[in-house]
Amino acid sequence: MESREQWGTRAGFILAAVGSAVGLGNIWRFPYVAYDNGGGAFFIPYLFALLTAGIPLLIMEFTMGHKYRGSAPLSYARMNKKTEWIGWWQVSIAFVISTYYSVIIAWAMAYTYFAVGLQWGEDTGGFLMGEYLQRVDIVNKAAVGSVGSIVQGVFIPLILVWIITLGVLFKGVKKGIERANRIFIPTLLVMFLMIVIRALTLEGATLGLEALFKPNWSKIASPGVWVAAYGQIFFSLSIAFAIMITYSSYLPRKSDINNNAFITAFSNSGVELLAGFGVFSTLGFMATQANVPIEEVATAGIGLAFVVFPEILNSFPGLNGLFGVLFFGSLVFAGLSSLISIVETFIAGVQDKFKLSRTKAVIIGGGLSALISILFATQGGLFFLDAVDYFINTFGVALAGLVSVVTVAWVVKNLKPFQDHANAISDLRTGLWWRICLSIVTPAVLGYMFVLNLIDNLK
Ligand code: PFF
Ligand code: NA
Repeated sequence: MESREQWGTRAGFILAAVGSAVGLGNIWRFPYVAYDNGGGAFFIPYLFALLTAGIPLLIMEFTMGHKYRGSAPLSYARMNKKTEWIGWWQVSIAFVISTYYSVIIAWAMAYTYFAVGLQWGEDTGGFLMGEYLQRVDIVNKAAVGSVGSIVQGVFIPLILVWIITLGVLFKGVKKGIERANRIFIPTLLVMFLMIVIRALTLEGATLGLEALFKPNWSKIASPGVWVAAYGQIFFSLSIAFAIMITYSSYLPRKSDINNNAFITAFSNSGVELLAGFGVFSTLGFMATQANVPIEEVATAGIGLAFVVFPEILNSFPGLNGLFGVLFFGSLVFAGLSSLISIVETFIAGVQDKFKLSRTKAVIIGGGLSALISILFATQGGLFFLDAVDYFINTFGVALAGLVSVVTVAWVVKNLKPFQDHANAISDLRTGLWWRICLSIVTPAVLGYMFVLNLIDNLK
C-alpha cells in the first residue's frame, strides 16, 4: 500500500479534530439554541444526543478512516466499491460549506480590524448592511473606488483567509495542519477565556445566565427541542461531512480511537458551555444597560456577531477595542481551524482519486472554492447564504448522515467489524449500546430530522 502522510503525535491529531469541531457553531450557534430550546432543561436532550449519536458516530468515522486509510470516497470504496458515491456526496457538501464558511471568517477578520477604535460607529446594523457590504459590492464589481474602500471591504480579508488556509494545506498533515492547530487552538482558548472571564464580571451578567440556564421543563416534551439538540451535536462535531474520516486516515496504526472520540467530543462541548457563559453574560449586560428584557437582545449567527456584539462593545466599560479584537479574533481562529479541515476533506478526496500531488490538489480544489467564495462576498451572496444553509442542513447533515449510517449498519453490515477494529486498539471499549445507537437511534432521529426539514420548507 502507498505510504500515507501521518500525524506527528496523538496530541496533534486530537488538536486538529478539536480544531475542526470548535468553530462558529460553538460560539454563535450553541448559546442561542440552548436558550431557545428550554434553557437548563436543554442539557438533557443535548447530553442524550451527544451520547447516543454524536460520540457513536464520531467513533464510526474515526474507525472508517483509520481502518481504510483513505479520504472519504476512498474509504467508502474500500469498504464496498458500490458505496464510493456516498464519500463523494459528503466531499461535495464539504466543498459547498467551504465556499461560504470562508466568507464569514473574512468578515470576522475585517471586524477584528474595525474593533480597533470601534469603527462601526453608533448604528451597527446600518454599518453591516449599508456601509460595509456596500463597500464590498463596490470592490467586487471591480468598479474599484478609493484604496480605502478596498482595504475595508471583505475582499482583502477573504484573500488573506485563503492564503492562510491553502498555505497550511500546501505544507501537509504534520508540518501544516498539525502545526497550525498547535498554534490556533491554544491561542483561541486564551483569547476566549479572557473575554468570558471579563463577561462574567459585567453588570447584569447574572441576568443573562439566569435566562440561559433557567430550565423550562415543559419544552422537553416537544420533539422540536430534541431535533434541535441532535442538529446542534451533528453540526458542532463536524460529523456526516467526511471530515473526521479524512483526519483519522492519517492516524498511525496504533491509536486509541474510542478515547480520542470522547476527548474530542467533550472538548467541543466544553467550548460550547464556555461560549454560553460568555455570550449570555454579555447579553445580560446589554439588557441591563438598555433596560429591556433579555428576549429582545438574545439572538444568534450573523446578527449576534456583527450587529449586536459591536453595539455591546460600544458601551463596554473600558478596553472595548481590546475586547472587540479578542472576540472577533477568536472567531477567526475558531473558523480557520474548521475551514482547514473542510478544505482538506475534498482535497484529500481528489488527491486519492486522481493520484495527484498534494500541491496540485490544493491548487485545483482550494482555488475553485476560493473563486466561488468571492461570489458569496457580494450583497447578492448574502441572500444566497440562507439558501445554502438550509440546503446543507437538509441534504447535507440529515440526508447524507442518514444514508451513511444506514449503509454501514444495514446494507454493508459493517458495525461489528468496525467495533472489533476499534476495540482491539482502544483502552476504552464500546459494547452493544454502540451498535444499537448507530443502527436504530441515529437513523430514526436523522430520518425524522430530514422529513421535518422538508415539511418546514414546503410550508
Ligand atoms: N463544527 C464546526 C462548528 O461547530 O462550527 C462547523 C463545521 C466545520 C461544520 C466543518 C461543518 C464542517 F464541515
Ligand atoms: Na463545534
